[in-house]
Amino acid sequence: MKVQVCIIGGGPSGLLLSQLLHLKGVDTVVLERHSRTYVLSRIRAGVLEHGFADLMREAQCGERMDREGEIHHGFFIAHDGVMDRVDLHKHSGGNSVVVYGQTELTRDLYEARDRMKGKVLHNVEDVALHDLTSQTPYVTYRDGDEIVRVDCQYVIGADGFHGVSRKSIPKDVLREYERVYPFGWLGVLSRTKPVSPELIYSRHERGFALCSLRSQVLSRYYIQVPLEDSVEDWPDEAFWDELRRRLPDDVAGRLITGPSIEKSIAPLRSFVAEPMRWGRLFLAGDAAHIVPPTGARGLNSAASDIHYLYHALMAHYEKGDDAGLDAYSGKALARVWKAQRFSWWMTTLLHRFPQNSSYENKLQDTELQYLFSSDKALASLAENYVGLPF
Ligand code: FAD
Ligand code: DHB
Repeated sequence: MKVQVCIIGGGPSGLLLSQLLHLKGVDTVVLERHSRTYVLSRIRAGVLEHGFADLMREAQCGERMDREGEIHHGFFIAHDGVMDRVDLHKHSGGNSVVVYGQTELTRDLYEARDRMKGKVLHNVEDVALHDLTSQTPYVTYRDGDEIVRVDCQYVIGADGFHGVSRKSIPKDVLREYERVYPFGWLGVLSRTKPVSPELIYSRHERGFALCSLRSQVLSRYYIQVPLEDSVEDWPDEAFWDELRRRLPDDVAGRLITGPSIEKSIAPLRSFVAEPMRWGRLFLAGDAAHIVPPTGARGLNSAASDIHYLYHALMAHYEKGDDAGLDAYSGKALARVWKAQRFSWWMTTLLHRFPQNSSYENKLQDTELQYLFSSDKALASLAENYVGLPF
């Protein structure tokens, strides 16, 4: 097979890039290790920046998002039994976020790829990248007993944190920066009315909790749990009881519970790999960087990589101008690190760290008090949460 751009990974990053390039006449193939059903069963992000929403519209995939997604102008931080509201609209100069699930967004991208007869191959095994520093890179994969070769001009590594692309960059070239947090998030999806029309991030001495939503009939809740815990340790009733304990009384009293339709634990990690380009390989999204989910930056950072990469590839194909490709790694990483800083800050502000001294706990209290006493501090939170400019 011969294509201009071979994209590894059929998550949101890979599908969005493939769709954008296709609309401009660039030929791509997406190689995805799992089945479509599996990819669509993963419940992940729920909050989109407007920059991302614009990219979905540009990809002609924004119709359902615009119909079913909710615009949120603010969210709450619950602490010490009170709820303080962060007015995103006021503090960001009129901006907001879109609440629309990653699962739905991925479904929309798959449907668009199908409509346009895009090449998205599932269940491909043993993907390997070859000759990346030459003018003629290629990718191989196994389909049953057959090894298939894909010749291309560029390879995009959009295959997530555990993918093969980043590992194809030589160890003496790749620098990795990492922080592993001593806890995870236990998430539950339930077909119940959300406890609040806006998200509630809750800081509590028993640990962090988040009340989020996918729609007015579908709720997503999270609680901070020790890394050793497994889903089996948390039957539904135990989850709801613990969530109630971490919310202000009136909110806990309003919580409508129901059977979980999905339950999973995600460890929290900060990670960046540099550079994001090696020869003709370009990394994008979770393949190059991971954030703890607290600031809802993960998927949005992936989208900003795709924005830069899409424009750089189009400058190459339309004008023969490679300046954008040459600048990609530096430009993407500059924004990635700002998302890292914000996610680390919000995680540190709101979680209970088991090893913290009483001094550090006092600093955490003070940080929160300062935040809600300073319009400048709230403006900094708001401008990061709605997304820094591309
Ligand atoms: P992915 O979505 O990981 O997609 C990569 C794709 O590549 C996958 O489909 C995978 O199957 C495929 N792949 C992997 N290896 C290979 C291979 N060798 N060959 C071919 N294909 C391969 N972000 C938020 O903003 N808020 C959240 O609440 C949130 N929750 C999360 C919960 C979990 C458990 C995880 C893991 C992430 C979460 N994130 C969240 C982050 C967000 O979901 C990611 O940033 C986003 O999925 C990144 O998209 P991506 O396309 O870059 O990577
Ligand atoms: C969700 C996840 C987040 O990490 C976040 O900050 C906000 C919302 C969610 O899954 O709904």
